[in-house]
Amino acid sequence: MLKTLNQLLGNQKKQLYLPIFLTIIDAIGSMALYFVLYLTVVDLLNGSLSESKVIIYTTICFASVLYRILIYRKGYLLCFTRGFDVAHDVRVNLGEHICNLNLGYFNQNSKGYLLNTLSNDVANFEGIITHALPFCMKTATLTLLIITGTFFINWKLALIQCALIIISLPILRWSNNLVKKYGTKKRNLSSKLVSVVVEYINGFKVFKSHNMTDKHFTRLLNSMEQTRRLSIKTEYKMAVPNTMYSIIVSFLTPLVLLSSSYMFSTRSFSSESFIAFMIMSLALTALLVSFEHYYIMINNLKLAVQNLKTTLDYKPLSYQEENFTLLNFDVSFNNVSFSYETGKQVLNNISFQSKKNSVTALVGPSGSGKTTIINLIARFWDTTRGTIEIGGKHIKQLNPDCLLHYISAVFQENVLLNDTILNNIIIGRPDATFEEIKEAAKIAHCHEFITKLPEGYNTLVAEGGASLSGGEKQRIAIARAILKNAPILLLDESTASLDPDNEAKINNALDELMKDKTVFVIAHRLNTIQQADQIMLLNNGTIEEIGNHDNLMNQKGHYYKMVKEQENAREWTI
Ligand SMILES: Nc1ncnc2c1ncn2[C@@H]1O[C@H](COP(=O)(O)OP(=O)(O)OP(=O)(O)O)[C@@H](O)[C@H]1O
Ligand SMILES: [Mg+2]
Repeated sequence: MLKTLNQLLGNQKKQLYLPIFLTIIDAIGSMALYFVLYLTVVDLLNGSLSESKVIIYTTICFASVLYRILIYRKGYLLCFTRGFDVAHDVRVNLGEHICNLNLGYFNQNSKGYLLNTLSNDVANFEGIITHALPFCMKTATLTLLIITGTFFINWKLALIQCALIIISLPILRWSNNLVKKYGTKKRNLSSKLVSVVVEYINGFKVFKSHNMTDKHFTRLLNSMEQTRRLSIKTEYKMAVPNTMYSIIVSFLTPLVLLSSSYMFSTRSFSSESFIAFMIMSLALTALLVSFEHYYIMINNLKLAVQNLKTTLDYKPLSYQEENFTLLNFDVSFNNVSFSYETGKQVLNNISFQSKKNSVTALVGPSGSGKTTIINLIARFWDTTRGTIEIGGKHIKQLNPDCLLHYISAVFQENVLLNDTILNNIIIGRPDATFEEIKEAAKIAHCHEFITKLPEGYNTLVAEGGASLSGGEKQRIAIARAILKNAPILLLDESTASLDPDNEAKINNALDELMKDKTVFVIAHRLNTIQQADQIMLLNNGTIEEIGNHDNLMNQKGHYYKMVKEQENAREWTI
């Protein structure tokens, strides 16, 4: 755990040295009170407790309290401020790391797992770093000091005391194993619960329209019930070693009392030593009882640290060129094969070239791999086999962030942020002026509806764009792409949610946008892509036909059939 924690904290761990040191100093300072108590009792028994001694002892007590207040306050504040700083850095690192992962990571991990890692694990980590770690150090230091002290008074009695502590160690281990076992189970269940809650909220409209709200609410209730039952079971299981541990360490004082009384009676123990030992054993019992609490917290830290490490161990996309300039925007696929999950091949040996400033249209049945090709160009995933080159450079060698500066995209599902419309468009180019944003919105035919909203461009969009229609969301996504004006443009069904009137307007806007760019456009309505320089018909992850509209029509193959089917369907509709 320490190794993992060390990796996780990196250089930041130095930040924790001073607060932990101050907490330990505070622990040492607290020993002064026990010492004064010992001296006072001994003097009382000897009848030598004079007025001057009382004054000295009281002064020592006051000084020690004052010293501890100063040290404790400083250490306490530092534990929190530095602990929060360290946890903040871990959060930022984790966030940056996740940004650099390929989308496959999100495929493999449920939303619940990710939310749990980003919120609960980091919060646990933060809580334990700021609270448990310093206090655990303090308790451990005091325990060690007292045990060492008892060896100086009477090593035989100290050994008996240690034997009792050693007996309690397997119980601590047992409790540790239970934390591991049930902590992992609880985490898996809570990830599932979070996933079900997210699914319930996201799918509420669908469930309602299919009268399935009750069924899915039952799923949610079942998940909550499982979590409740597991929490109770965990407490029951944990109660056994915890109680046994408490009983064993509570035996410490009676055992020491019995043994030291015996030694005292056999005159192998002085009254001073007897008193000192009793005071120390009382303090030790209190420490050992509170140690268990921190020990469980530290074990929980192990789980949180392990979960954070699992996420951090997931390798980000690698690259050799950090900053690069692309001057040519030809795109070529060379024998590209790809599968999202091992086993199922989605693209199979795809090769094609798209010249700079040309339009390549991707058509084909649903599931044939059109969106996948676009995902690979943007390097959201890496090819399983084969290479993709942009401007003669292998994209696997390019920093994905830098590569995305050259790419604008409008996807099938347009996700809008829970922010103002203005901020949703400006994502395209954060340094754009308001005039430029307005211009992009006008071209994308969204300026009109935006100005009719109560707060215009400052209107807040509900989470996921729920307050806007599908067409409005799509036009905002197009405005983003227009504003970004990158040399490579990826359009995945960008006019799918528009009515025919708006589609015509948007197509004009897109024609403007597509000028002088390398464009990949996916369209199900084949009449919209007839002017494309090349049309690629995909089927089952392979290129079935490739050429321009006239070539493919002359071939009278699959494309020809699809065009004819759509023409017939349109005539039927008319
Ligand atoms: N994130 C993913 N994880 C696993 N499999 C995926 C993922 N996305 C797509 N697939 C699978 O890959 C195949 C190709 O999907 P893709 O989205 O490229 O098809 P498409 O041609 O764009 O279809 P559509 O016209 O319906 O949008 C499908 O079988 C799909 O189930
Ligand atoms: Mg698709």
